[in-house]
This record gives sequence, C-alpha cells and structure tokens, in this order.
Amino acid sequence: MSRLAAIVLAAGKSKRMNSALPKVLHPILGMPLVCHVLEAAVAAGVRRIVVVASVENRSALEAALREWHDERARRTAPSLTTFSVDVVVQEVQRGTADAVLSARARLQGFDGTAVVLCGDAPCVSASSIEALLSEHRSKGAEISVLSGELDDPGGYGRIVRGSGAAITRIVEEKDATPDERRIREINSGIIALEVPLAWSLLENVAPSKETDELYLTEAVSLASREGRKALAVMAAVPEDVLGVNDRAQLAHVTAVIRRRVNLAHMKAGVTLVDPDTVFIDPRARIGRDTLIMPFVVIEGPCVIGSGVRLGPFAHVRGGSVLGDGGAVGNFVEVVRTRMGSSSRALHLAYLGDATVGEGTNVGAGTIFANYDGKDKHPTSVGAKVSLGAGTVLVAPCSVGDSARTGAGAVVLARESVPAGETWVGVPARKNAARRASLGEDKGGEVPHGTR
Ligand code: UD1
Ligand code: CA
Repeated sequence: MSRLAAIVLAAGKSKRMNSALPKVLHPILGMPLVCHVLEAAVAAGVRRIVVVASVENRSALEAALREWHDERARRTAPSLTTFSVDVVVQEVQRGTADAVLSARARLQGFDGTAVVLCGDAPCVSASSIEALLSEHRSKGAEISVLSGELDDPGGYGRIVRGSGAAITRIVEEKDATPDERRIREINSGIIALEVPLAWSLLENVAPSKETDELYLTEAVSLASREGRKALAVMAAVPEDVLGVNDRAQLAHVTAVIRRRVNLAHMKAGVTLVDPDTVFIDPRARIGRDTLIMPFVVIEGPCVIGSGVRLGPFAHVRGGSVLGDGGAVGNFVEVVRTRMGSSSRALHLAYLGDATVGEGTNVGAGTIFANYDGKDKHPTSVGAKVSLGAGTVLVAPCSVGDSARTGAGAVVLARESVPAGETWVGVPARKNAARRASLGEDKGGEVPHGTR
C-alpha cells in the first residue's frame, strides 16, 4: 500500500465569498477550484485522496469530483488515473484541525504521510508538494508546513521560526502581535503529517480563545512545545501558497494560473500575441505553431492542432477538436465540435454539436442551429464544403463532401445536402430545382460565401 495520502479540506463555510455556490466549486479557467488542488496532488504522486466536505456541500462536491475524475480518465494515460477519491463529511465546521480529524475513520489502518491540502489554495504545484514531502521525510519530521514569503501577508497565519528549518508556532493574523504581523513568511495551510502519530496531536488541540475553533496550526505549536520535530519548508515559488477567501483573491489566483498555463503553451511552441487577454483551460492541448490572437477563450479539455489560427475574439468550448492548419476567427464560437484539418470559420459564426470535414470553409455569419428549445441536435458537414455567407443549418442535418450552399441558405432539419450539389434559398433546395421553380433557368453564379 502506498505510504502517501492526501486530505483535502473543503468543508469551510466560505462566508467571505458571499455566494450560493460552495467556494471550492467556483470555476477557475473552466475547472472547479478544488480540482486544481487535486490535479497537483495526483501529479505529485498521491494515489489516495480523502476530501472533507460539509453536510451542505457534500452532494455538489461529489458530483463535481466525479465529473472531474471521469473527464480526467478520458484525457490521460491509464497509469495516471488509478487513484481513489473519497468524500467524508465534517458534521460541524469546528475548524481546520477538526476537519483533518474527520478523515481519520476513512484512513483507518493507514500508516504513512498524509499531506493536508486546502481546497481553497488552487495554485499549489506538484513541485511544492514534492519539496515539502522530501524535506519532511529526509529530516524525519512529524509535522511540516509548506510556507511562502508574500509581499502582502495580510490574512494568513504567520510562521514563527525557531532555529533553522524548525518552527516554534504559527500565529493566526487575528491573534498576532504587531511584530508578528510584520512576518512575511506565511502558512499555506498545506501540511504534511505522520499518521497515525498525528491523530493524537490533533486531538489535543485546544479551541482558540478568540473564535472557539480548532486550528490545525495549533497542532504545529503543540508539536514544537512537546519537542517533536516541526518544520517549515518554503514553496518552490511564493505564488504556490495563495489562498482564496473572497472574490478579489479568486480573480488574483485566476490571473496567476492563467499566466502559468499560457507560459507553458508558449514554451511548447504556441504563439500568444497578447497572453494577457487569452484564457486557456488547463486541460486544453494545443499543437506547435498555432497562433492565438488577442481575446481568445478556450474552455474545457479542447484539443487544438498544429498551425491553427485562433481569434481575435474566438471562443472554443466544450472539448472541441480543431484539426491542423485550420482557423477560427473573429467572433466565432465553436462548441462540442470537431473540425477537420485546414477547415476554417473566420467571421461571426456559431458551430455547435457538429463534425466538419477537412478543407471546408464556413462562410461569414453561418449558424449551426443545434438547439430546438428543448434538445440539442448534431450537424454533419463533409470535406471541402463551402457554406455561403449567412447559411443556417437547422440540426439535425447534413451536408455532403464538396457540396455548397448559397448565401442565406436555410437547410432545414432532417435534410441532407448530397455530395457535390449546390443548395440555395429558404428553405434550401438544389440550385437547379429552385431556379426552375422560379422560372429562371439561365445559369449564373451561386451567391458567394466568404473566404
Ligand atoms: C487557514 C490557516 C492559515 C493559513 C491559510 C492559508 C488555520 C487555522 N488557518 O486560514 O494559517 O495561512 O489557511 O490559506 O488553519 N475548512 C474545513 N472545515 C473547517 C474550517 C475550514 O474544511 O471547519 C477548510 C476550508 O474549506 C478551507 C480550508 O479548510 O478550504 C482553510 O479554511 P479557511 O477558513 O479558509 O482558513 P483561513 O482563514 O484561510
Ligand atoms: Ca482560506
């Protein structure tokens, strides 16, 4: 059995968020806050995770974790998905020490290191967790805290150091003296503990005089007083320790994570003309030499090929897949759609629940009308198709390879435009048939699309 487990604290009341949605489920770049924490834990090698929920947020949390777990299994290699996530309930929010103790029954028989992670600290990286664990283990500590030095430590517990890596105690801001408040080294709330030894330490934590809460940080002070080894280990980068208590901090950590994601793509060969205006879901994959213009949002685990051109002002959502060399341009939204290589939708279009073949051009203003007010329906468009400007494809419908539609054509639901044909008008009909019905049989140009 692995000697490593994680306990993720997510039962807090999140009063400072002033929200009906549990704090740990607020999305950051499309993924719930707490899932960012779990991603880091799994990347650091944790294979057994216990999440502490409250009575109120339990079912929402379970649903979100299940969705994350299933989606992750589809996205990653099987070897990285063999981990367990259990949810336990902390009946009353009596503080962080009590929250950790709520996981005790679920970890019955576990003998090893438990790393406590805060469900509201989404910037934590695998390398910081690994650094904490490696120091903790190599120094034979009983309890070790991941700390970070912040320019503005306001609101965080401060680390009071003894000699070297040892710490004397952690003092919460509300209990701190003015001198202690000047300490810039703060407690991330991420703490490694030796189990089962630590359970007794946690049981001996006395309630805070100020708030009557049982602080996990008190366990550190207690360990140090009892002469047990308590360490503080600095995070790989200070930003790793940032927590979210309110919406301003939510915006701040979103910016931090966004910068990291964008930087990783740039290192992997993606051009972001102005990364400050680009939002990319951490689960998205993007190929080399793709060019992302300003104001692009990529939501969900989308897969974008190489040499694709996105934006400005493009919105790619819902796990869409864009083939190599394609383009999604100005004010175009693509959702749950697979576009073949070299296919383009450059202006003012909506593509939903669709498959589009290779080398197809979706003209300006084209709408895939996928929603009938009740259900969503699929649309299939073949390869080398040309959809004229302002085409409406009422789903479910299909357009065959090398077919064309005229500007303003409305292809009705359950219609199939055969391969190679040109359909025009409202409702769209084969060009020759419509011309005949209008008494026009002279040839002529098909109303053109845009390129
Ligand atoms: C806590 C730390 C503080 C640290 C900061 C880092 C304590 C007492 N203080 O303060 O030293 O600098 O995190 O962000 O630990 N939770 C429960 N059950 C509870 C209470 C909290 O599950 O009864 C969870 C919350 O959902 C949250 C985490 O524990 O994810 C931390 O709780 P929070 O109330 O946000 O603590 P802070 O005031 O931020
Ligand atoms: Ca917090």
